[in-house]
Amino acid sequence: MKALVYHGPNKKSWEEKPKPNITHPADAIVKIVKTTICGTDLHILKGDVPEVVDGRILGHEGVGVIEEVGASVGNFKKGDHVLISCITSCGKCSYCKQGMYSHCENGGWILGHLIDGTQAEYVRIPYADNSLYLIPPGADEEALVMLSDILPTGFECGVLNGQIKPGDTVAIVGSGPVGLAALLTAQFYSPAEIIMIDLDDNRLAVAKTFGATQTVNSRQENAIKVVMELTGNKGVDAAIEAVGIPATFELCEQIIAPGGRIANIGVHGKSAELHLETLWSRNISITTRLVDTVTVPMLLRTVQSHKLKPNQLITHHFKLSEVVKAYDTFQHADREKALKVIMTNQ
Ligand SMILES: NC(=O)c1ccc[n+]([C@@H]2O[C@H](COP(=O)([O-])OP(=O)(O)OC[C@H]3O[C@@H](n4cnc5c(N)ncnc54)[C@H](O)[C@@H]3O)[C@@H](O)[C@H]2O)c1
Ligand SMILES: [Zn+2]
Ligand SMILES: [Zn+2]
Repeated sequence: MKALVYHGPNKKSWEEKPKPNITHPADAIVKIVKTTICGTDLHILKGDVPEVVDGRILGHEGVGVIEEVGASVGNFKKGDHVLISCITSCGKCSYCKQGMYSHCENGGWILGHLIDGTQAEYVRIPYADNSLYLIPPGADEEALVMLSDILPTGFECGVLNGQIKPGDTVAIVGSGPVGLAALLTAQFYSPAEIIMIDLDDNRLAVAKTFGATQTVNSRQENAIKVVMELTGNKGVDAAIEAVGIPATFELCEQIIAPGGRIANIGVHGKSAELHLETLWSRNISITTRLVDTVTVPMLLRTVQSHKLKPNQLITHHFKLSEVVKAYDTFQHADREKALKVIMTNQ
């Protein structure tokens, strides 16, 4: 089969690899139908994730068709259409029992990281019963690719941890696919205001069409001043960090209202300053989370009922064999006005 293979920082190629086999009775082999590229794949290519070894097939998102199942797989059979979770979970360990699949003792984020991933014609999925979701007949499979990672990430790490409530004032720092996923799913709870902050005018314009009530380009305007003016000098009830750099986390600390929640989503490579000298008395809480994907069944139902329209996040289409070109587009997201790129295995 063909796959997109990592060969060390800044090196990747679309090349021949052996088709995966069942190696454990709980495995399934899935023929990929559609997959995409995540910002995290770009981090890997920069060399930021050293556990990824030369020869690894990248990708942790996608939908496909079951090709073969191991002897202990009970929920799926050959021919079933499935959504692949970016998080592999055994369903049996203590973390899985708490719904904290991201910390599964036998899985977690391993796809396209510690084991071969989904940017390939076929992928082996361990613990298939708990790590795959059956796609209902007639569903828009392309839209469901957004449920492998970014929608549960925006929802679980941002909206649920930020405890968004009706009438809240919310700021989302970062208007990339993950920040936009938080914007879409925050609206389940009818907050009064959602202020999107980014440096990219195109992404802010997209955010407006997705329901943002205000947008702030923090390159052109002082985001703290604008948020304070918009909130009568109180700050926001929830600040969601969806970038992953010290400046944006520290911005959340400066715009949070008394009693507010800072929900961090971004993957941070550097330490950010915690300003306890100003925050100690403000009754705030700060949360962090690696996406668990426990909300995928619920998100699937909201997509089926058209409450959530994740295909709004898809801007570009390629054949799977054009994956190198798709990476080029995704790597130049501002120039290309790209959000999520879909690759179809034809
Ligand atoms: N916690 C998790 O489980 C989890 C899962 C997936 C992704 N992530 C992380 O979420 C973050 C967002 O992911 P994404 O795919 O949307 O990334 P992205 O890079 O596409 O989007 C980030 C956005 O932040 C904006 N930005 C950059 N610097 C800024 C600044 N100083 N002020 C305001 N905006 C700024 C960029 O213009 C861009 O639109 C990343 O750090 C990613 O690694 C976390
Ligand atoms: Zn991802
Ligand atoms: Zn587990």
